Amino acid sequence: MLSVVPRAISVRAPSKVNLHLAVGDLRPDGYHELTTVFQALSLSDQVDLVPAPALTVRVRGEGARDVPTDRRNLVWKAATRLAHRAGREPLVEISIDKGIPVAGGMAGGSADAAAALLGLNALWQLDLSRDELAEFALELGSDVPFAMHGGTALGTGRGEKLLPVLARDTFHWVLAFGKGGLSTPDVFRELDRLRGQGQPPKLGDPEKLMHALAAGDPAQLAPLLGNDLQAAAISLKPELRRTLRAGITAGALAGIVSGSGPTCAFLCADADAAVEVSTELSGAGVCRSVRVAYGPVSGARVIDIEPIV
Ligand code: C5P
Repeated sequence: MLSVVPRAISVRAPSKVNLHLAVGDLRPDGYHELTTVFQALSLSDQVDLVPAPALTVRVRGEGARDVPTDRRNLVWKAATRLAHRAGREPLVEISIDKGIPVAGGMAGGSADAAAALLGLNALWQLDLSRDELAEFALELGSDVPFAMHGGTALGTGRGEKLLPVLARDTFHWVLAFGKGGLSTPDVFRELDRLRGQGQPPKLGDPEKLMHALAAGDPAQLAPLLGNDLQAAAISLKPELRRTLRAGITAGALAGIVSGSGPTCAFLCADADAAVEVSTELSGAGVCRSVRVAYGPVSGARVIDIEPIV
């Protein structure tokens, strides 16, 4: 519990890449059973919360024009649900500064939702535990619990049953943002369609990948990265093949589609290699923009509290 009543709160929440994303059967509730290894990356969004006469959402930064500022935004849902639980009105202005690409397969909307939950818990002094917040998190989306958790984690169920995974050292990534986004439900549906035609093969278990993470060796990790959604994302956006090839030509150890795409994530040998790969990839004309990032980083966390004086 905070000892001072806050006037404003700033929260930072990470993006994610799935190092391993094995998609199982479609469940009766419309979700697929997953086995995934998430890693939280330094590319992040900042969410600022300040009391206001009405609930308002503002968005600026990367892809801001494509983000709704009404009840369709996950932070709006987070605020109304948390306010309902607390028996109060959601009188808050939420400003989102986006670094994570919108509809990019890096869980940007989930990061914002996790940040809003954490920030409002502090702003309204609700004193909800991490476990209680995690329940709200899953109601908002499958990737929101991991955005709160951070680090490197094994996710099962919808991706919400999380176990920490040991990852030694820092891994260095280059991210290629796609031209336009992909809808996550469309990509899962496309995978079901491709599987109905007998293709593509399914990923095995992530045991070897977890050993490579524990060893902290990017060269060992690179050939073990895998994503069952990649074939579906490429089927919907065939140009991703060229982006993936260009990253390898630029010197990356491996490249995968991040989550449901279309962002491509390239694992590099070290920080210097990542800068070189990013420079070369920027010039290749195969994507909208390029960023370097590293992981693992922590989950959503309060970075600033402005007390009432
Ligand atoms: O949970 P979230 O709202 O992020 O999921 C978006 C969509 O992605 C779901 O409606 C579903 O179509 C698909 N999905 C799935 N299986 C999962 C997670 C998401 O089929 N485990």
